[in-house]
Amino acid sequence: MRGEWWRTAAIYQVYPRSFADGNGDGVGDLLGLRGRLPYLARLGVDALWITPWYRSPMVDGGYDVADHRDVDPLFGTLGEAEELIGEAHALGMRVLLDIVPNHCSDRHPWFQEALAAGPGSPARERFWFRGGDRPPNDWPSNFGGPAWSPTGDGEWYLHLYAPEQPDLNWNHPDVRDDFERTLRFWFDRGADGFRIDVAPALVKAEGLPDLAGYPGYLPWKDQEGVHDLYRSWRAIADSYPGDRVFAGEIWLPDPARLARYLRPGELHTAFNFAMLTCPWEADALRAVIDTTLATHEPVGAPPTWVLSNHDVPRPVTRYGRDGAAFDSADYFARSHGTPYDEGLGLRRARAAALLVAALPGSVYVYQGEELGLPEVEDLPADALRDPMWARSGGTVKGRDGCRVPLPWSGTRPPFGFGVGRPWLPQPPGWASLTAEAQSRDPSSTLALYRAALRLRRGLTGGLTWLPAPRGVLAFARGDRFACVVNLSREPVSPPPYDGVLLASGPLDGGLLPPDTAAWLRLGGRG
Ligand code: NOJ
Repeated sequence: MRGEWWRTAAIYQVYPRSFADGNGDGVGDLLGLRGRLPYLARLGVDALWITPWYRSPMVDGGYDVADHRDVDPLFGTLGEAEELIGEAHALGMRVLLDIVPNHCSDRHPWFQEALAAGPGSPARERFWFRGGDRPPNDWPSNFGGPAWSPTGDGEWYLHLYAPEQPDLNWNHPDVRDDFERTLRFWFDRGADGFRIDVAPALVKAEGLPDLAGYPGYLPWKDQEGVHDLYRSWRAIADSYPGDRVFAGEIWLPDPARLARYLRPGELHTAFNFAMLTCPWEADALRAVIDTTLATHEPVGAPPTWVLSNHDVPRPVTRYGRDGAAFDSADYFARSHGTPYDEGLGLRRARAAALLVAALPGSVYVYQGEELGLPEVEDLPADALRDPMWARSGGTVKGRDGCRVPLPWSGTRPPFGFGVGRPWLPQPPGWASLTAEAQSRDPSSTLALYRAALRLRRGLTGGLTWLPAPRGVLAFARGDRFACVVNLSREPVSPPPYDGVLLASGPLDGGLLPPDTAAWLRLGGRG
């Protein structure tokens, strides 16, 4: 494995409960994932990011952690986790875990202790408890409703997410010490790093001021103190051999603020959500690429490119709605269930895959993206598990539609996901989307991803924009490679080239059709 592997890595996101079910209970698990590691190695990814597998009541799909240093029995055992890490390494893949430091589960022993100990007790200082006959401030929960819930004994506690996810107080030394222990625990077991959940939210503005009238961005985000914290985490990672890394989940509107988390001695990388929130428009995408490169370069950090994850509608569906961009939870309320063109969405999603895979830096692939899965928007209400659904009073369907268990093989549900009934129903029409079916088809989205991930390993050098007609993105990497993406409504001539290395759809008499991308071999400039 190369040094500083994370600068160029293709990282595959595994959402374990929807990946593969090894024990037949309808929920994906470590046994299922271990059985599919060869598929991931064959796909050509350099690393896995595995979303939380820790002990959890699963109110928020495992992001409500009751014990950070054990595996939930739903997924398997700690021993299996260790074996999995070893097996992935043997196949040449690194393993990033997902650390959730902003909050824990209300079943976590600390929160239980705090509730039992009552108002004013030291046990409550590890969280944000406040007295009063109304919520202490006007902060909203990200899942709808207020960010404060009553304890029933005259106090309120803060939860930026569900009430079952109380926020931890990072001013408390126990909190800092315990998370350092957790980092070491998993580093000692071979983890190559962590994705950090809601990384900018850990430190809250002094005095917990109201949002209304707050002079900064948000009083619960991007506070200066959070940088000290990540510097101390970085020192821990650096004390281990073999390039252990952090990838911050950092949703911030200002890319310059994001880059501050990537200064030397802080986090290695951060998710670049600007690409994922961008509509399918050439000028807008080019602006995202330029800004990303310009803000990462001064801090010496590699950009990351992300099209999807377990929190956002899948690209096939997003891009199939003209002009639709995923900008916030409002997307679900606004666009969910409105008509879209799946064929168009798939063409664009495939072109987008070639675009991001060609850019300098590291790239993420969310499970099922390589199969071109659409968002499942017609899940019955009684199947929905995302807390957004209940918290919004049944108005926001939430994120279950991108978490439907993967189709692996066969012609009917559960499509080889396991033998039991999957925890979310799969659309009966997914037979042509299974990994098995796509493995046989050289024009499939799976084949495209395999080829792209293999070829991108050979790409080096920065990005140089090439002259291109309006609505077309064209850039070179070095002298011999160009990527051209046609976002216009007309077929276009690509720049002069020696050969087509890969294309997201067939070229038409030498012309690149709309919503198509091609990787070209250039003749070289001497
Ligand atoms: C971000 C995670 O990706 C999401 O799934 C989760 O609900 C929130 N953080 C809260 O942990």
